[in-house]
Amino acid sequence: MSVQYKFPEGFWWGSATSATQIEGAANEGGKGRNIWDEWYEQESNRFFEGVGPQTTSDFYHRYKEDVQLMKQIGHNTFRLSISWSRLIPGGRGEVNQEAVTFYNNVIDELIANDIEPFVNLYHFDMPLELQNEGGWESRDVVEAYAEYAKHAFRLFGDRVSKWFTFNEPIVPVEGGYLYDFHYPNVVDAKRAAQVAYHTMVAHAKAVEAFRTFDIKEGKIGIILNLTPSYPRSQNPADLRASRIADLFFNRSFLDPSVLGEYPQELIDILEEHGQLPVTEPGDKQLIKNNTVDLLGVNYYQPRRVKAKETLPNPYGPFMPEWFFDHYEMPGRKMNKYRGWEIYEKGIYDIMMNLKENYGNIESFISENGMGVQDEERFIENGQIQDDYRIEFIKGHLEWLHKAIEEGANTKGYHLWSFMDNWSWMNAYKNRYGFFSVDIETKERTPKKSAEWIKQVAENNGF
Ligand code: NOJ
Repeated sequence: MSVQYKFPEGFWWGSATSATQIEGAANEGGKGRNIWDEWYEQESNRFFEGVGPQTTSDFYHRYKEDVQLMKQIGHNTFRLSISWSRLIPGGRGEVNQEAVTFYNNVIDELIANDIEPFVNLYHFDMPLELQNEGGWESRDVVEAYAEYAKHAFRLFGDRVSKWFTFNEPIVPVEGGYLYDFHYPNVVDAKRAAQVAYHTMVAHAKAVEAFRTFDIKEGKIGIILNLTPSYPRSQNPADLRASRIADLFFNRSFLDPSVLGEYPQELIDILEEHGQLPVTEPGDKQLIKNNTVDLLGVNYYQPRRVKAKETLPNPYGPFMPEWFFDHYEMPGRKMNKYRGWEIYEKGIYDIMMNLKENYGNIESFISENGMGVQDEERFIENGQIQDDYRIEFIKGHLEWLHKAIEEGANTKGYHLWSFMDNWSWMNAYKNRYGFFSVDIETKERTPKKSAEWIKQVAENNGF
C-alpha cells in the first residue's frame, strides 16, 4: 500500500468497547445487577427484537481469542470498561475477587500481546442498588463512585496507565432524564441538570484520587461525544440556538473537565429557567484543581441546529427555544444504512477547536464508526464486504491527518468497535465491528475493513 497519509510515530490504532455491551455473563462470576439488567426485566419489549444485555458477544469467556484477533489486525491499543457492578456488586463495599481475576487476565493478556489497555470506569452502567438510592441525583452515590475509582486504580494501576472516568457522560443525562432512552426514564430538566452536575463532581473526585496514586506514566482523562453545532441558517435565532446546543451538549462537560470551570452563559441560562443544581462548598475548587491530562473524543455526526420558533417542542420541558433534527438533512451526505449524517470535516473542526480554545489538550479519537443495519446482505464469499466502512474511516482519517499537520495534539484513532456488539435499546440493530459476530454461535469473522485496518496500522497510514 502506498502511503499518502502518514501518521505520527507511535499513533494509537485500536478500537473501543464497553463492559455491558460485550462481556455477557451478566449473572455469572459474582456480578451484581445494574440498571440495564433491571430495565430489560421490566420492559424487554423496548429493546430491539426483545434482545437484552445477557446476549452479547461473550467477551467474558472469549477474551483470549479476541486479543489474538486484535493482534492480527494490528491493534496497539484497546479500550475496555470495568463493570462497576461486577467489580463491586451492589456498588459499594467488598470487591469481588472473581471480577479482579477476570480484569487482571484481560489486562495481562493484552499487555502480553503488545496491546496497551485503556480503561474506562463508567459506561452507562449504574449498579442497581445505587440507582435505587437516587443514582447520580444522590451525593452519596458520588462518594461511592470515588471509592470504586480508588479500588480500580489500586488493583490495576500497576499495569494500566491510561484511565478514563466516564464515557459520554451527557448521554445518561439525555437518555435517563430528558428523552426517555435510558433507565430511569425520567423527563425533567432540573433533575437532568443535577445528574450532569453530580457526574462532573464524581469525575473530579476520581481525578483527585488518581493523583494520589503513583501510576507510572499515568494519565487520567474523560471521553466526550463532541458533536459540533452548526446553525442551519445565518439568521440570529438559528445562530443563538446553535450556540445553546453547543453549551448544553458539548461545553457542559468539556469546559469543566479541561478548563476547570463551567461557561458563565450556561450557568445564566440554567438560572433563568430555575434549573441550577444544588452544589456544595468546595466543589468549584475541586473542579478547578482536577482538570484532565487526556481527552477522548467520540465523533459520529454533527448537530444541525434550527431555532424552534413556531415548531412544537419535541422533547418535553427541555430547552424550549431551540430544535434540531438529525433526520431531515436535504443535500447532505448520509449513512443510508442507518440514517445519520456523514460529515468528515467535523473531526477537523473539533480538533481545531481543542487547539484554539482548550490549550491544545492531548487527545485522540476514542470512537468513530458506522452502524449498518442488516449487514449480512453485504456478504460475499463468506465475508462482509464493508467498503462503505473503509470509505467512512478513510474520510475521517484524512481530516484528522490535516488537523495533526496543522498542530492538533491528537494521538490516535479508535473505531467503535472491535466487533459487533449489543447497543443498549438498539441491541443488535446496527452493526459496527471490524469483526461480525454470529449471535447464536458467537463465531467471529473478519470483515473486509479488518483486513484493511491491519494494513493501515502496519504502515502507520494509508
Ligand atoms: C457511543 C457509545 O459510547 C457506545 O456505547 C455506543 O454503542 C456507540 N456510541 C454506538 O452508538
